[in-house]
Amino acid sequence: MVKMSTFVNKCFVLGGKVQRVYMSKIFREKFEFSNNGQLLSTNLRTAEKLEIPNCPKPTFIENLKGLVCWDKAQRLHEFVDEQHRIMGPIFRMHIGAVTAIFVNSPEAYQRIFKFEGPTPQNFVPEAWTLYNEMRKCPRGLLFMSGEEWLNNRRILNKLFLKPWTAKDLMIDCCEKAAMSLCNEWKQFADAGNTVPDLEQRLYLWSIKVIVSTLMGTTWDRHEDELTSDLNILAENLHEVFIQSAKLSVLPTKLAVKFQLPVWRKFTRVMDTSTNVARKLVLRIGKVSNNGLLDLMRDSAIQDEYLVRIITDLIIAAGDTTAYSTQWALYLLATHAEVQERIFNISMSNTSQDIIDHSYMKGVFRESLRLYPTAPFLMRSLPLDSIIEGYSIAKGELMIMSLYSSGRDNDNFPQANEFSPQRWTRDSKNKYENVINPLGTLPFAAGARSCIGRKLAEAQMTLAISQLIKTFRITCDNAENIKMILHLISVPSEPVKLRLMTRN
Ligand code: HEM
Repeated sequence: MVKMSTFVNKCFVLGGKVQRVYMSKIFREKFEFSNNGQLLSTNLRTAEKLEIPNCPKPTFIENLKGLVCWDKAQRLHEFVDEQHRIMGPIFRMHIGAVTAIFVNSPEAYQRIFKFEGPTPQNFVPEAWTLYNEMRKCPRGLLFMSGEEWLNNRRILNKLFLKPWTAKDLMIDCCEKAAMSLCNEWKQFADAGNTVPDLEQRLYLWSIKVIVSTLMGTTWDRHEDELTSDLNILAENLHEVFIQSAKLSVLPTKLAVKFQLPVWRKFTRVMDTSTNVARKLVLRIGKVSNNGLLDLMRDSAIQDEYLVRIITDLIIAAGDTTAYSTQWALYLLATHAEVQERIFNISMSNTSQDIIDHSYMKGVFRESLRLYPTAPFLMRSLPLDSIIEGYSIAKGELMIMSLYSSGRDNDNFPQANEFSPQRWTRDSKNKYENVINPLGTLPFAAGARSCIGRKLAEAQMTLAISQLIKTFRITCDNAENIKMILHLISVPSEPVKLRLMTRN
């Protein structure tokens, strides 16, 4: 056993790939697993001796620096990626008071989602949980757990995913919103200016899509009167994420105890966002008669859940789709040849065909692979399990490093290149240049994956298609843009998009 661990340690030094191959060989030879992947008890004794590689524990001073060093926290995805390159596909790391096991292999992801159990618990920022406790406000799907979550999720799956009952409704609304975004942006092209407040505009567009989908055709009649509330919501939601990101690098409970300005600002914008969203839902509930809200009313969702679920759908949709679209536009602005392919596809296809087009799917997947809105996913497993050949105790925090696996050449050759073409399939139905598609999971996977992913795909694809049909896009400050973490991945400075109207 001593010899084996020495060898294993050497493999860590050699790098992840060697370690992965060697470890899986050891485990095939030495251990047996039950059918559901758990280590049998006799083997557990042996496996316990194989230590998960540890990142050296930071000293008190390093921890303190990490806490106050905003810059380091913003680049955590790069640091973790570097650690994976040195230590391999799995390692344990201490960040502040938290200890977590980081993994970046598609095989590990698959096993985590397989063993996450029927009601997996997701992880939301501590500030959000503390806020909910303080205001005693019951929230939507993102915050539910156990049977309560499962019952509501099953009903919503039918509307949002399978069999995607609300498909036509969603596509219609995404199409209209894309047209109106283009019309709004024509003024900037005509004036020769970059798009001002791009982030805020995409936020508003994104919220308008979900609200119009909830309302159906009644949206057209009520858009004007709702716009001022939607603007307030967009501004405050944006600020919620900015303040949450600041709180995420502080001991949040202390920020609450001492009522630090950042916590006070967070509660103020959170109060406004939840109040405006709730008021909005009650208002549109009175007028809508053929939208998603009505489909939800007609489903088995109980009345007590309806308002809180819808309120949180609006909150979850705004930020994620706005930033993902911003990244996609940034990539297109720096790849004129991709714009020309999109233009040709968009001129000769219907909306439904554009969404289903393999190249357009490639554009969508590539931008989320390179810039995953959530660069880390977290789970804890309900039972002792085996991941990457190591024994993982139930309840340990597992963090999936999506940014790292999305940029791993072993999964995606020339991984740092934006290449929508890689996702097109050959005559044998194989992707052209993708080794393991599970290296990118921008919407997570398993029972708790994103409920809005089909809406997001339709919304982003149709907006991109409409914008490229109308404009050629460039970016004035492309070289300066880096990905940083503000809870989700955002550009390091405002993206300056310049639009030229096509003839
Ligand atoms: C490109 C856009 C989007 C991205 C990248 C994204 C990403 C994600 C991810 C990664 C999760 C899972 C978190 C986890 O497993 O821990 C998630 C969950 C969720 N998303 Fe999205 N999302 C997007 C758009 C949307 C939209 C448009 C909606 C609303 C219609 C939405 C509503 C939700 C909700 C309610 C959950 C929680 C699901 C549950 O806990 O059962 N998302 N999203």
